[in-house]
Amino acid sequence: MPRPADVPIPDSPQYPYPIITDYCEIVCGFGRGSSELGIPTANVQFNELPDAIENLPLGVFFGFAQLAESGPGDVKNCQRPDGTRVHFNFGQRLAESDLNVLPVVLSIGLNPFYHNKAKTVELHIMHEFKHDFYGAKVKFSILGYIRPELDYTTREALIDDIHTDIDIAKSVLSKPQYAKHSSF
Ligand SMILES: Cc1cc2nc3c(=O)[nH]c(=O)nc-3n(C[C@H](O)[C@H](O)[C@H](O)COP(=O)(O)O)c2cc1C
Repeated sequence: MPRPADVPIPDSPQYPYPIITDYCEIVCGFGRGSSELGIPTANVQFNELPDAIENLPLGVFFGFAQLAESGPGDVKNCQRPDGTRVHFNFGQRLAESDLNVLPVVLSIGLNPFYHNKAKTVELHIMHEFKHDFYGAKVKFSILGYIRPELDYTTREALIDDIHTDIDIAKSVLSKPQYAKHSSF
C-alpha cells in the first residue's frame, strides 16, 4: 500500500537519474542513526558531489554504493556535540564482502525530526557490517526518488517509515531495469 507521500517510481531510471558520484570521504554525522534509530548512515559532504545532487528535492532516494579503503590516512578523530569521540579507521576493517556494490537508500535534507540547520547527505547501505568505516571512501549512484522528507511526532514513526523506504528500495533495485545499474 503506497503511503500518501510516496512518489510513483518509473519502470527504469528517468532523467536526471542515474546520477553517479566519484569516490568521496565518509565523514562524521551526529551518530543518531546508529544509536537512536538502529539504522546507521554514512554521511558525505556536498562539496565532493556532482552539482546535480544539489538540485534534487529534499527527501529519500535509492541507488547503489561501493566502499573502498582510504588508508593509511592521517589519524583523525571527531567529537560529536554530545562529547562522544569518533575514531576514523579509513575503512581498514572492511571485509571483502563489504566492498561489493551494495544497494543503498539515501536521505538528502534537513532531517526535520531532528531540526538540523544544514542539509546533509546520508547513505544507509543495506548490508551487515561488522565494523564502522569512518574515513573510508564511497562512490554511489542515485537511481530514483521515493518520497519527500517528513516530520514525525514519534521516533518510532520515523523508524517505521525508514524501514518501509528500505523495503521499497530493495524491491525496485532488484528489478532488471534498475539492477543493471549495479556496476559503475
Ligand atoms: C532512508 C532514510 C529516510 C529518512 N527520512 C527522514 C525523514 O523523513 N525525516 C527526518 O527527519 N529524517 C529522516 N531521515 C534521517 C534520519 O533522521 C537520520 O538518519 C538521523 O537523523 C541520523 O542522523 P545522524 O546519524 O547524522 O545523527 C531518514 C534517513 C534515512 C536513511
